[in-house]
Amino acid sequence: MDIESLQSDLLGAIDAASDAASLEAIRVRALGKSGEVTGLLKTLGAMLPEQRQAEGPRIHGLREAVTSAIAERKAALEGAALEARLASETLDLSLPVSAGPSGSIHPVSQVMDELAEIFADLGFTVATGPEIEDDWHNFTALNIPETHPARAMHDTFYFDRTDAPADDQSASRGAQKMLLRTHTSPVQIRTMKETPPPLRIIAPGRVYRSDSDATHTPMFHQVEGLVIDKGITLGHLKWTLETFVKAFFERDDIVLRLRPSYFPFTEPSMEVDVGYTLDKGRRVVGGAQPDGWMEILGSGMVHRNVLRACGIDPEEWQGFAFGCGIDRLAMLKYGMDDLRAFFDGDLRWLRHYGFAALDVPTLSGGVGA
Ligand code: PHE
Repeated sequence: MDIESLQSDLLGAIDAASDAASLEAIRVRALGKSGEVTGLLKTLGAMLPEQRQAEGPRIHGLREAVTSAIAERKAALEGAALEARLASETLDLSLPVSAGPSGSIHPVSQVMDELAEIFADLGFTVATGPEIEDDWHNFTALNIPETHPARAMHDTFYFDRTDAPADDQSASRGAQKMLLRTHTSPVQIRTMKETPPPLRIIAPGRVYRSDSDATHTPMFHQVEGLVIDKGITLGHLKWTLETFVKAFFERDDIVLRLRPSYFPFTEPSMEVDVGYTLDKGRRVVGGAQPDGWMEILGSGMVHRNVLRACGIDPEEWQGFAFGCGIDRLAMLKYGMDDLRAFFDGDLRWLRHYGFAALDVPTLSGGVGA
């Protein structure tokens, strides 16, 4: 075959190639190791100089024409493939979101958001602390020395390691035990040591105790409250708790009962019960004439020893603190009766009790969302 007809043959085939595979077959046929154009190029070596001078440019011209035709066709095929993909993979952004995947907000997260909203309105900020805590912050600084019987009240998970990075107070005491915090009260200590008073914080988070039955899980949630200022009294504590519980349960006929109690880090200490009324045998929080009482939190005036441990002068500053189980609050407000189901990760439970992501609690909209 002469060069001209080979060229028009190849160019025609390239033009007709409808996909990358058939184009590649043509490339191999023409330019591959034993391809037709390659074969012609090989003949150049055996030619006489004059003949080579005449044939060389023709054969190289053929090779270039075929090479660039293949490149062009390849680009055209790729462009067409991209166009086709773009046409078939369009996203209709006007489709309703309900058609897409959906999740829900866990009741514990929802209640934490509600608490933050309620307390933000009273001028509290949200503080946090580590869940892996040292002995000093979890116990000693809270007026619970090593030999204190109150340590036995908390079924503490200790770590084997004792060579934790010692903080300034503990440096002199040497290595300290590390543990999973048994309450959110160590956040009181961290906050008082970091920020000079006056202070108003809540600290929601996970806490851990070696305890497990229908009403206790080894991990549960608490919210701590702490106010440090001048001239703070029990009256401020009582008003704050009443305002919080009324806002949380969204009713005004809430009655609180303050019972004398004992916590090493508060003096005096009180446990707080909320009155409930019976509605078809179910306990409903609220009602001016309660049928019974449920304990919801522990509280008291911050102990002088705790203030001193944080470098705060108890002659100048006073305060109150409270600690409240969040899971129980959620159960009471939203009517779940088994705490363990909270942490099973059962999608049916989450769909039933979970909240929509856009149900952001606001005081104006009702914190119950
Ligand atoms: N930390 C206590 C507990 O977990 C609760 C509490 C907090 C009591 C603050 C008084 C003041 O039981």
